[in-house]
Amino acid sequence: EMSQIRFDNRVVIVTGAGNGLGREYALYFAAKGAKVVVNDLGVTHSGEGTKTNPAQKVVDEIKAAGGVAVANTDSVEFGDKIVKTAIDAFGKVDVIINNAGILRDITFQKMTDLDWNLIMKVHVNGTYSVTRAAWDIMRQQGYGRIINTGSGSGIYGSFGQANYSTAKLGIHGLTLTLAKEGEKRNIRVNTIAPIAASRMTETVLPKEALANLDPKHIVPLVGYLAHESCEETGSLFEIAAGFIAKLRWQRAAGALFDLPYTAEEVRDRWNTICDFEKNPEYPTATSDTFAKVNENVERIQLKKEEAAKKAAATTTS
Ligand code: NAI
Repeated sequence: EMSQIRFDNRVVIVTGAGNGLGREYALYFAAKGAKVVVNDLGVTHSGEGTKTNPAQKVVDEIKAAGGVAVANTDSVEFGDKIVKTAIDAFGKVDVIINNAGILRDITFQKMTDLDWNLIMKVHVNGTYSVTRAAWDIMRQQGYGRIINTGSGSGIYGSFGQANYSTAKLGIHGLTLTLAKEGEKRNIRVNTIAPIAASRMTETVLPKEALANLDPKHIVPLVGYLAHESCEETGSLFEIAAGFIAKLRWQRAAGALFDLPYTAEEVRDRWNTICDFEKNPEYPTATSDTFAKVNENVERIQLKKEEAAKKAAATTTS
């Protein structure tokens, strides 16, 4: 592909764009010709209010560089207001980067309802709310690109992040279904799981690690996924310091049991159930699971018919 990736005449919403990754995305899209809604509530990394208006600062920066942008300072919980800002200023929405986020790290034993609920509110409800408010617009125009932000914490689990890992994997669940529902209307939805130096990681990662993790290194993947030339959808990518890789589900060939069956039989075939070496599969829909149900039902039926034939043969001989 020789042509450049540009966003002229595209309207891009970036949530949580006052700092860190979101700020880099906003600067990039504006530099590539997009009209950008820079959303940010201006909170600390744990969600406490500040008197700053980082969204406006980023808008000023974009304008100073000759770009087009407008600030929005609503919480992502109120997605309709953010989308309204886009419609009022630019008349449409083509791309949403659901990026706003906070942390409330604490072991599950010490976690309060507030720690849990705040994380769900910002990450899950925020991603839902902004996307829902733009969904009908994208369907009607037959175009949309949505990039949701997951985390390695959601993919693998992470000590002290029960709330955050639940929210981040939940967000990928939304990606998976919206990719299917948006397919015919040319709406593509993907999740990235980034690692980058930001307010969020500066206290948890060592200095030497942070030096390689400039948030700028996350931008190229987001730029490509957000572009009209990219047809990728329903996918999950890990990205950090110039490393990008897609992830997928792998399912063992597994075991088929005669029905009914027992816990002892499960125990005795545990190695087969968990064997990824022999004929693993890469399912992408629940229909792939029903295929296994049918396979087993047919197998059992065939076995019964053969047993009946054998029995008939022995009684007649
Ligand atoms: P950051 O703390 O530098 O930036 C997040 C921004 O979101 C802040 O400017 C904050 O004011 C804003 N924000 C928070 N709550 C908001 C709300 N309710 N409405 C609107 N804006 C809100 O964090 P960073 O690192 O740039 O994180 C961006 C995204 O990437 C987050 O979703 C985070 O969970 C995710 N992420 C980051 C990783 C990293 O290594 N930095 C690792 C995995 C995921």
